[in-house]
Amino acid sequence: MSAAYIDSSTTRVLPPELDRRYPVAVRGEGVWLEDSAGRRYLDAMSGGSMAATLGHGRRDIVEAARRQGRQLAYVHNERLTNPAQERLARELVEVAPDGFTRVRFVTGGAEANELAIRLARAYHVERGEPSRWQVISQAQAYHGPTMETLALTGRPGLQGPLGPYLARHLHIPPSTRRLDPTGEAALEALDRALEQAGPENVAAFFCEAISAAALPAYTPPRRFWEGLEERRREHGFLVCFDEVVTGVGRTGTWFAGSATPLVPDVIATAKGLGAGYAAIGAVLVREQVYEAVANGSRRFTLGHTWDGAPLSCAVGLAVLDVLRSEGLVERVRERGVRLRDELEEALRGIAMVGEVRGHGFLLGVDYVDPRDRASFLPPELRVAGRIDEVALERGLIVLSTQPTRDGMAGDQSLFAPPFTTTDEELAEMVSRFAETVRLVAAEANRGLAALEQAPAVPAGEPR
Ligand SMILES: Cc1ncc(COP(=O)(O)O)c(C=O)c1O
Repeated sequence: MSAAYIDSSTTRVLPPELDRRYPVAVRGEGVWLEDSAGRRYLDAMSGGSMAATLGHGRRDIVEAARRQGRQLAYVHNERLTNPAQERLARELVEVAPDGFTRVRFVTGGAEANELAIRLARAYHVERGEPSRWQVISQAQAYHGPTMETLALTGRPGLQGPLGPYLARHLHIPPSTRRLDPTGEAALEALDRALEQAGPENVAAFFCEAISAAALPAYTPPRRFWEGLEERRREHGFLVCFDEVVTGVGRTGTWFAGSATPLVPDVIATAKGLGAGYAAIGAVLVREQVYEAVANGSRRFTLGHTWDGAPLSCAVGLAVLDVLRSEGLVERVRERGVRLRDELEEALRGIAMVGEVRGHGFLLGVDYVDPRDRASFLPPELRVAGRIDEVALERGLIVLSTQPTRDGMAGDQSLFAPPFTTTDEELAEMVSRFAETVRLVAAEANRGLAALEQAPAVPAGEPR
């Protein structure tokens, strides 16, 4: 494989975007990736998806996988369990928020979220409330590409033509600084959703405690969490956290659920558990959820072929070992505060930068129209897309998201380096990113001037 790029005319893979050229990554070492043309990229996105939390090419983790592979790579956990699965469940419970006592493994984030919903449903059915099936969730979120996880998000642009297949769950808008800075509007929307569904039919409230790509590093204000807690107590639904990104250290605690004012009932996690070395996810539940099953049918069946496989669980164990022995969760918590300040400082003076947010090594940048410093940028400027393209040209991998149709989010970038990134590497990432944003901001200013000069469309003609 020596071509510098692969495009749709030269691949047998069905690529996500047929008009895009893809560099071919052939090697990774620490926070550096190398493509087939020998170009090197600083990976400020932990493998692009925030999974590679420990960087690339870790021999200790590969060695742990090799050892397990030689001893026992695979057994299906329907009739057999295995020591790696048992130990990983115990170790996860040790670092989970208080009260979480049981774990079920899966192979990824969407599967974990689906399993969280199945567990919330089982909890109610087992306790004699089979009418509870509805889920209320935040509209501006990402929970995965499967039918149920797409139904959990309220983003029509993401659901595309799959709408007819999706369960009719209810959504509330996020309480962002722009839309609802106090959290009260989101709580009112939650009350309306509860009334619409009938609170006795609601199984769960589902959300990202700290958002990833959909609203980088955003978390609702305290009042929202308090109000959610009040409603959970009054109406008896469960709260499920999608911690596919935030779980296992990303935001400076083992789980974001330990730091929110409300402790969830179910946590779904994935990416950082395998750190990019194995496809593994997990769902953790509080004792009361387990007890509902234990005191009820005593069955929670349906699983996937790779759930709890020794090979992936051995990787999970090695990942937890590294996190503990290198003090990485603490490092992310402490260094993340400074990283956010450094990012903000480097972007200072760029009128297009509206807000820099951060929790640990999950940082987000919100872009605004520089003319009023409040509105979203016109989508035709493709600011998010240009950030990623220009960053890649500068040997930096970041991930930006486009404005959504419903006006809940504009152009934004995620900045989520591996936990092992050295201070020098962080500085280089910040510097390349700031240079990228400055270039794209200048481009956007020219684009805005051109749009202002464009002849007005005669009234009545479609745009
Ligand atoms: C917050 C969140 N939830 C769920 C998912 C889906 O995870 P997976 O791609 O492993 O199915 C993702 C993936 O990016 C995510 O960011």
